[in-house]
Amino acid sequence: MPRLLRYFLLFNLLLLICPLALIGCASVTERATQSTLASASPAPSGITECEQEAPDTITRPTGKPYTGDLSTFEDPERDQKLQVNRVMDILKIKEGSSVADIGAGSGWFTVRAARRVGTGAAVYAVDINRDYLDYIDKRAKREGLANIRVIQGKDNDPLLPEKSVDAVLLMKTYHEVAQPIQLLKRTRNAMRAGALLGIIDRNGNGDHGIDKDVVIKEVTRAGFVLLDQHDFVKPDRADYFLVFRVGP
Ligand SMILES: C[S@@+](CC[C@H](N)C(=O)[O-])C[C@H]1O[C@@H](n2cnc3c(N)ncnc32)[C@H](O)[C@@H]1O
Repeated sequence: MPRLLRYFLLFNLLLLICPLALIGCASVTERATQSTLASASPAPSGITECEQEAPDTITRPTGKPYTGDLSTFEDPERDQKLQVNRVMDILKIKEGSSVADIGAGSGWFTVRAARRVGTGAAVYAVDINRDYLDYIDKRAKREGLANIRVIQGKDNDPLLPEKSVDAVLLMKTYHEVAQPIQLLKRTRNAMRAGALLGIIDRNGNGDHGIDKDVVIKEVTRAGFVLLDQHDFVKPDRADYFLVFRVGP
């Protein structure tokens, strides 16, 4: 066969093969993507596939964990301003319930929950700050509340025992949590059937608060379903109180 004809045929063959190869690659990639998505847990409603594929790590700004004086949390009018009994009612905290107070600070909420649930149930005071937990330990002894257990959690893990609680509250804490989605996924494992999660915070850009919509989106990504939202926890209605349950 003349050399020129050979080159001509070879060139045509290449023109035919290259697009076929490209189509093949695309469909392999598509299948791989589909199988990755199929093996992942189903996307909660309102979450796009891209968001679901992203790791549970958040990169938005978060507040620096509070390290100041604990008396800040002990305003004598706080019970009434925050309507703490109404908060506990909404979270179905009653005698015999076990509760986790994540980001417990001075233990202001911990001791109130401990009095309500009584001696037959535990209240876990979780914080990353060892000094605050030592303070809560002493406070529990002083106030005769033997049902309080302190736990030094991690940025992304409250280290709660599995299936140990009926209610969890993060009060003025969510905006400080460095990795909230990871922390909440682990919190989910600690929640018994029907347990509720409450989050009290105020709108902001992560420094002293966090926008409610950001919280709802992240908590949903962690596998929870929003049940209700309230604005009675501060007289000027600047704070929100969100209530979630574990998703299906
Ligand atoms: C602003 S204080 C609120 C204290 C308390 N909840 C209150 O309202 O009285 C926030 C607390 O959350 C704690 N904190 C921050 N990140 C945390 C995390 N990932 N896990 C547990 N506690 C955390 C801080 O150490 C601090 O004690």
